[in-house]
Amino acid sequence: MDITTNPITMLPTVPEQVLPSASTLTSTAAPIVLAGATGGLGLLIAHHLRRRGATVRALVRPESSRKAEAESLRLQGVEVVETNFNSVADLTRACTGAACVVSALSGLRDSIVDTQTRLLDAAVAAGAPRFIPSDFSADFTTLPEGSNRNFDLRREFQRRLEKAPIQATSILNGMFMDLLKGQAPVVLPGPRRVVYWGDADQPLDFTTMVDTANFTAAAALDPTTPRFLRVAGEVATIRGLQAAASAAAGHPFKLFRVGSLGVLQSMIKVTRTLMPANDEVFPPWQGMQYLHNMLSGQAKLPTLDNARYPDIRYTQVRELLAR
Ligand SMILES: NC(=O)c1ccc[n+]([C@@H]2O[C@H](COP(=O)([O-])OP(=O)(O)OC[C@H]3O[C@@H](n4cnc5c(N)ncnc54)[C@H](OP(=O)(O)O)[C@@H]3O)[C@@H](O)[C@H]2O)c1
Repeated sequence: MDITTNPITMLPTVPEQVLPSASTLTSTAAPIVLAGATGGLGLLIAHHLRRRGATVRALVRPESSRKAEAESLRLQGVEVVETNFNSVADLTRACTGAACVVSALSGLRDSIVDTQTRLLDAAVAAGAPRFIPSDFSADFTTLPEGSNRNFDLRREFQRRLEKAPIQATSILNGMFMDLLKGQAPVVLPGPRRVVYWGDADQPLDFTTMVDTANFTAAAALDPTTPRFLRVAGEVATIRGLQAAASAAAGHPFKLFRVGSLGVLQSMIKVTRTLMPANDEVFPPWQGMQYLHNMLSGQAKLPTLDNARYPDIRYTQVRELLAR
């Protein structure tokens, strides 16, 4: 995702308030080990961990350790460790001494199930007390199998995680709010429409990537986290998105109901048949599955833990759309 990408450095743009200041750079002793640190979310988690004074060790594939993202991590004071993610022994060495192992990996089975399992095995072997998997999504825990390919993989990894002798915390944040600016075809500035299926009054969870990263950094440094932490920067209905888009743009948006959730289900089947793109992490049909999970209410977060870290101020949809 490139919503926060600086066109010159090709690095995610980090708002000034998340950059570390000299006074906040005192480091805790035991490092937070971060996998996927060169990704969009991972970079932001690293920035927030540093801002909170943590020692951060980023595990980076050898082929990625010279990339601009790895250089950015070094500039933030992150220890970048080239790691062979296919070797549990290598990963175990890299996890030694960790207070918490955080995964921000993204991908399909190879990354979410296979590589995360090796990382989990390594965290356990190294004696790390805590593990945060790369969930960062709507509540996939009770969704029917087959309703979202990417969530099926997360539940598969979750079944392994439940058996591991480590304190695990999944962070569920709904949809990245940033996607409303482009990738999720819901708020359409051109035709001034908010597009939806089903019920315009169904509550939906949104959190920006920056707020999700900030929350994750706080959770990684909090030794008492429960199995799940749920956060939503804003809970908005389709009608709420319409109001936010209208206020942000200064002119009215109309609602456009394409059809029922059954119609969306049929559109998913057709799109998947015509454009399978099965090797892509987020092909269009998977984005539509995500929308279906949210618009049906099945992936709604039942409770929120926003107040657990009172220093975090959450960006609202209207603010994001006005940027
Ligand atoms: N809730 C939402 O709306 C939403 C939207 C988008 C993403 N997400 C989630 O946020 C999390 C992070 O996504 P992102 O967008 O930050 O991903 P990203 O930018 O694609 O970054 C992926 C990271 O994982 C690393 N990686 C992937 N496969 C790996 C492997 N097999 N071995 C070692 N490293 C590997 C990449 O390393 P290299 O640099 O070496 O390639 C990179 O650091 C994921 O769980 C994703 O599903 C949520």
